[in-house]
Amino acid sequence: MNIVDISQKRYTTKHYDQTKKIPTDQFDQLLTVLRNSPSSVNSQPWHFYVIDNDAAKNKILPAIAEFNQPRITGASHTIVFCIKTPLDETYLVNLLNQEDKDGRYPSADLKQAQDQGRRHFVTLNSATIESQQCWESKQIYLALGQLLFAAAAIGVDTTAIEGYDATKMDEILELKSKGLKSVVVATLGYRAKNDGNAHRPKSRLPKEQLFTFL
Ligand SMILES: Cc1cc2nc3c(=O)[nH]c(=O)nc-3n(C[C@H](O)[C@H](O)[C@H](O)COP(=O)(O)O)c2cc1C
Repeated sequence: MNIVDISQKRYTTKHYDQTKKIPTDQFDQLLTVLRNSPSSVNSQPWHFYVIDNDAAKNKILPAIAEFNQPRITGASHTIVFCIKTPLDETYLVNLLNQEDKDGRYPSADLKQAQDQGRRHFVTLNSATIESQQCWESKQIYLALGQLLFAAAAIGVDTTAIEGYDATKMDEILELKSKGLKSVVVATLGYRAKNDGNAHRPKSRLPKEQLFTFL
């Protein structure tokens, strides 16, 4: 399938076939796509909670807006996207060490330059805790976009979900004590036969309103 076809065929699934599970190898591929997502200065300011069983679904359900609950109960998997807050010294050191381990630094100078560059951007975006969280959230949404597209490419249906109570979700998953904060949720699985949204035409603004060629 070409990329335009994938983008046309991907749509927001409202009702899933509860009997269908995403095969483990395919779900692992999608987790790898999340892991490989780009982020500013390779900050990877995220952590993902994966929900794939009824007990875990029931646990998070009270945090999900009622109109969105059928997506969670019907989907094969749900992912809660969290940012790390705050992005602290231990985390920055851990990132640098990982890059070193992965062979990114042929010299100590390069390693130091990367560390300095990253700290510059982190500082620039951390005037307040809110601005830091906002910057991290932008990175998370890139990961979400990649996931939605990649899932469509392998025939997995998805729903991005902002319709949930973040405060409640953070309490249920005890995120604050782990230095995390939930930002968005996604469900993945296979559309139900009666998912009306599958047959609605896509609606987008015309390209003349979107693109300016200079
Ligand atoms: C960040 C984000 C949050 C969304 N939240 C919800 C949601 O809570 N519930 C829902 O049914 N759809 C949700 N949507 C789906 C959008 O309504 C949908 O993407 C849009 O109407 C375009 O339709 P399409 O995805 O079928 O092309 C969300 C989409 C995005 C990108």
